[in-house]
Amino acid sequence: MKPTVLELKRKKGERLAMLTAYDYPSAKLVAEAGIDLILVGDSLGMVVLGYDSTLPVTVDDMVHHTRAARRGAPEAFLIADMPFLSYGTQDAALATAARLMKDAGADSVKLEGGVEVVPIVEALVRAGVPVLGHVGLTPQTASALGGYKLQGKDEETARRVVDGAAALDAAGCWGVVLELVPAELARIVTQRIAIPSIGIGAGAHCDGQVLVFHDLVGLFSGFTPTFVKRYAEAGNAIREACARYAEEVRSGAFPGEKQSFPIKEEVLKRLYGS
Ligand code: KIV
Repeated sequence: MKPTVLELKRKKGERLAMLTAYDYPSAKLVAEAGIDLILVGDSLGMVVLGYDSTLPVTVDDMVHHTRAARRGAPEAFLIADMPFLSYGTQDAALATAARLMKDAGADSVKLEGGVEVVPIVEALVRAGVPVLGHVGLTPQTASALGGYKLQGKDEETARRVVDGAAALDAAGCWGVVLELVPAELARIVTQRIAIPSIGIGAGAHCDGQVLVFHDLVGLFSGFTPTFVKRYAEAGNAIREACARYAEEVRSGAFPGEKQSFPIKEEVLKRLYGS
């Protein structure tokens, strides 16, 4: 059964398994596998839409994919990412959250940033919107952070991660994603906040873990971060299946009798004679 936000907060320390999904079949598979939380991440911009970053993703893209994921996983706790520049002001954030929750069926939104997004989180929480925070490497502002690289290696960036997570907790987030930070820093943050931390490239001490579906099953052939573990090579299996199909079409082996439909002899006779 779908957890409430209060129940999710109480799951601190329970090792939540979260995965992204962006459409009907992947959300259905992920839900059937018993994953606790599904994230319709704006990573869909890279792994589904073929952009080289998450920046071009629009609210319309997120609504479209969240609706499809919701149809695949009607009972799942579904979180939808607020895309880049869709939550710059409290009014914009409320409008984006309304689209993601009312039009698309998300149970929660996720947004990136620490101390600087506290007023936005507070406005959303005040309006009754469940919010998942995201600190460390925040892909929407990766350029300002010096690229897709480990955050929190030095005192200044480590402090930004610790303070950001604490501020999001105080502002009312029900959880916080820690992306690409040293494991020991993630352990300290996890101990200091009262809400679940969900790590990606943040080591084993977080309360939960999240991965991008396409990375986990081998469906994204672009850049694969070192923190990703491949659990399947679905891309290879699909490529081989398509190549076999093409070969059989060309050789005449497909379609066979099993994939064809018969017609009664007498109907043919009536049409064309004997
Ligand atoms: O967009 C996304 O998929 C994410 C996860 C990597 C946490 O933000």
